[in-house]
Order: sequence, then structure tokens, then C-alpha cells
Amino acid sequence: MTQNIKGFSKLSKEEKIDWIVNTYFHNPNEAKEVVLQYWNNNENIQKLHDEFIENTITNFYLPYGVAPNFVINGKDYTIPMAIEESSVVAAASKAAKFWGERGGFKATIIGTEKIGQVHFLFNGNKEKLKQFFNEIKTKFFSDTENFTKNMQKRGGGILDIELRDKTSELDNYFQLHATFNTKDSMGANFINTCLEQFAKTLENEAHHYDNFTEDEKNLQVIMSILSNYVPNCVVRAEVSCPVENMSDTASIDGKEFAEKFVNAIKIAEIEPYRAVTHNKGIMNGIDAVVLATGNDFRAVEAGVHAYASKNGQYSSLSHAKIENGIFTFWLDVPLALGTIGGLTSLHPLVKFSLEMLGKPSAEELMKIVAVTGLAQNFAAVRSLTTTGIQQGHMKMHIMNILNQHHATKEEKQQVLDYFKDTTISHSLVVDYLENLRK
Ligand code: MEV
Repeated sequence: MTQNIKGFSKLSKEEKIDWIVNTYFHNPNEAKEVVLQYWNNNENIQKLHDEFIENTITNFYLPYGVAPNFVINGKDYTIPMAIEESSVVAAASKAAKFWGERGGFKATIIGTEKIGQVHFLFNGNKEKLKQFFNEIKTKFFSDTENFTKNMQKRGGGILDIELRDKTSELDNYFQLHATFNTKDSMGANFINTCLEQFAKTLENEAHHYDNFTEDEKNLQVIMSILSNYVPNCVVRAEVSCPVENMSDTASIDGKEFAEKFVNAIKIAEIEPYRAVTHNKGIMNGIDAVVLATGNDFRAVEAGVHAYASKNGQYSSLSHAKIENGIFTFWLDVPLALGTIGGLTSLHPLVKFSLEMLGKPSAEELMKIVAVTGLAQNFAAVRSLTTTGIQQGHMKMHIMNILNQHHATKEEKQQVLDYFKDTTISHSLVVDYLENLRK
């Protein structure tokens, strides 16, 4: 059967599924069953999900867990996390408890500025372009008044628009580089709407600018789009305590652990191979909360990793030091988040997450998300520098292995008991289970 199809999007959902299962599967009935078993019984919920994207045939579930006992700036939170990786939620909860007993997390907003750009080509006299830009600058603001009115009422809006000369990097390339405050919305739509208007204003005004030659009048807008790189929309999450309090087990000395921990962070600061994995651990926490609160994790990921390279080499997002016997561990992270607009009022679980967090402002959510990233990083580096990561990781992963092999409740218990104090690996678990079954 051909694997090309015309007009797929016009088919009904059932027809789409039928085409997929008949085209790609040896056993179409079985394949269809897999797809259908993830449909939601509640028709309204299903319709909502169907309409989020195009060609929806089913839902793809992620576990939704919660990490309680987070104390951030003196306030208690239970943090929602949507993630498939075992041990992440457990690690966050453990770190929350650890730091909760040591004064909790501190979080501070360093900036909230978002960025958008109109990229255009201008083949002409640069001085005339600058003069033109200065003369029409107020027009960018007045032409966008219709969209900015509401945002201004909420205390946000367009902060500034600059003309940037990029011709040393690309012939004739200039930008309108605009900065925004979008308050509690992530602001992508607002920013892009403003930028597209800036582009129109730019082109129109250029056409009617008497000082321009014909070529100059025909400056060419290439594209108008927000930037997901938000180095001035940054939050700091932080913990600290005297070094002697850094241990909660008799087997590790607090000072020794603190020093080892600081060295682990220094390695991630200077060694990109380690930094990527180190930051991946931070993103385990960040993405899970970003997803559970209906925010765009791709935007956050892109922006965060660009920020991690801002000094020319990919580096750790978190830092640690010991000064006067005090251990301090902190993370600066760019986060463009929203608590209104987008999915926040559409997805019932997103609403649930936000209510559980006490209906935070975007700034408060930035703090919560950054703290979860720091907690995750603390838990990972703590394991790495003490017991090793596999102990905790495999303990959680053991359940996945058991489920894969359809272990019964009794078998699960026997396996868990056996591996409580021994090395765990995939093959050891499978071998043990097979022996049990003999
Ligand atoms: C695994 O998902 C994350 C870690 O590799 C992070 C790290 O190495 O710091 C454990």
C-alpha cells in the first residue's frame, strides 16, 4: 500500500486512525486498540485535546507527580511536575526536605525583559537610516496602541525600540530590536503582533520618506519574530547554610561534602561535556514544572542553553562557593513564563497546577521553576559526589523493568526486597526475576 496520502487532514479522526493502522501495522486491530485506549472517556476533555493541535488521533500521557515541602522565600509549596523519568520527583522532594530544614530556598527576580526583532535589509546611506528611524520612532508606539492598551493597563508594554546595525556581519542587515514587559503572560502573541505592526510601519514610512532614494525606500523586511533568548528575563534561586550542616547522615562529614560539591560545580563551570549533563539535571526539574504549568518548554530549553553559552563556552548554570564557613549554591536562569493566556485557562490540569501553587504571578512562577531546577541539581550532584547516581536511579527504575516483564505484585515485592542492599542493573533484575519464575 502507498504511504503517501492526499487530503489526510480532511479525514475524520476514525478515518485517520484506520489509514495509519492499515498502512503501517501488521496487526491493524491491535494497533487501533493501542490508540483508542488512550482516548479520554470524557468527551469534552477529548475534544479539547483534539483541538489543541492538528491531526490528533489520541493522547500521549506523561505522569503528573507532585513534590511537596518546598519552602521558597518563607512560603510553602507543593510543586507539580509532568515528567516520565523515574527518580526526578523523588529527588526534588528529597532536596526540598533537606533545604526546608535549613531555612528553605531564596529566589529573586533579576529582570523580566523580553525581546523581539524585525530583521530587514537596507541598501543605502546608514546615516539617513538612523535619521529616519529617530524621526519615525514614536510612530511604532502609536501604530501599536490598539494592542498595547490592555498590556499597559496591566503595567506592561513596549519598553524600547532600537535600530541595530548588523552590516559588519551580513551585508545590508539591520534590526529593529525591541524590548517588552509582558507582565503575567508569556507574551509571544503580544510581541509578535507588535513586531508585525512595526514591520508594516517601517515599510510604509520608508516608502514615503522624501530623503530616501528609490532603493532606500524599498528596504526589505525579512521577518519579524520574538526571541526566545531572554538574557534579561532572569531569576536567581539560592540556598545556603553553614558547612557543618551540609550533612544529614553520619557517614558524610558536612565540610568534606560541601568542598566536594563545590568542586563538582567548578568542573561543570569549566568543562562543557560535564556542563551539558549538569544542566540537563537542572532541566529535569525546570521542564517538568514548565510543562505542568502549561508553558512552552521548547522556548525555555532554547533560551536556557543559549544563556549557558553566553560567555563563549557552554558552562554550568549553577554556581557554588564556601565563604566564611557558609556554603552557598545558586542558579541564574532565564525563564519567559506566563500564568495567564495560552494553555493556562484551557487545560484543566494546568489550571489545577496553578491553583495548587496559589495562582502565582509570572514572577512567582519564575521563582518556583528556578528553585525546582536548583533542587534537582542539588539532588543530582549530591548523589554523584556521595553514593553515585545509579543507586537511587536504578531503585526507581526497577519498577519500570518489573512492569516491562509483567511482574506480579508478589514478584515485585520479592525483587524489591532482594535488591534493597545490592547493586542493581537491568540484567541482574531480569535474571533474578527469571530465576524466581523457574
Ligand atoms: C539524569 O537525568 C540527570 C543527571 O545526569 C544530572 C547530572 O549528572 O548532574 C543525573
